[in-house]
Amino acid sequence: MDIIKTVSEMGQRVASARVAGETISFVPTMGFLHQGHLSLLEEGRKRGDLLVLSIFVNPTQFGQGEDFEDYPRDLQQDSALAQQAGVDIIFAPTAAEMYPSGYATYVDVEGITETLCGASRPGHFRGVCTVVSKLFNIIQPQVAIFGNKDFQQLAVIKRMVLDLNMAVEIIGMPIFREADGLAMSSRNVYLNQDQRQQALVLSQSLIQAQQFVAQGQTESAEIISHLKKEIAKYPATRIDYVQICHQLTLEDQTTIDADSVLLLAVYVGNTRLIDNAFLVPDND
Ligand code: PAF
Repeated sequence: MDIIKTVSEMGQRVASARVAGETISFVPTMGFLHQGHLSLLEEGRKRGDLLVLSIFVNPTQFGQGEDFEDYPRDLQQDSALAQQAGVDIIFAPTAAEMYPSGYATYVDVEGITETLCGASRPGHFRGVCTVVSKLFNIIQPQVAIFGNKDFQQLAVIKRMVLDLNMAVEIIGMPIFREADGLAMSSRNVYLNQDQRQQALVLSQSLIQAQQFVAQGQTESAEIISHLKKEIAKYPATRIDYVQICHQLTLEDQTTIDADSVLLLAVYVGNTRLIDNAFLVPDND
């Protein structure tokens, strides 16, 4: 496994892979790998001859006052995990390599970026789309794999790929959870023991909502109001949003149907956690 830090060296490796007729599969990450990332790599390993993992904490997707500086980083541990997962190349550029002086181009997807995380984190998806476009141009993968936990991110990237005629297949992989239900996230490391316990209210809310729907509840407002009250019982939590949306358009739905997805963003202490689930379980 090689660790490549420059765009030019990555370009050379991609060019030789292409000449050799190899398929490139790609898993973009910000590192601090967990089981969820490893499941993406496992899928990537099956889908490509050359498996590339990027590790880059992308400054342009963090807003002012967000956790860019504190975001956990451990390239040594990530390299060991990547090696075990069969990664061929880690692409780990510096911020200056990705955004050299004079950098001035950004990718903005309209509409579906204006709700949910896009509403509470202005500029976030502009940063995500910009870096993912750049990574796609540098790595030229045929397949790229993302987690469903960042449900809106996946929808936005699919939109961007379609709109910009990018020749890459986007695959979404199921959310990976701890044994007690907490969705895996690099940010879980910020939680103290008490917050970690209170954070379970996210996954429990999803299950509760699915149960309401299974019992015949179809009114989004009823479910949302119930969940908000339940979450508020946990003193370390602060709700950013609880929304039921159409899985493709991400527009709010008043009535639940087979396309409904429940999306949550909740601060636990200072840590902002997200989670989601389809409400008609067959869909999951
Ligand atoms: O999901 C992430 O880790 C990041 O948003 C991504 C896609 C790697 C872009 O920086």
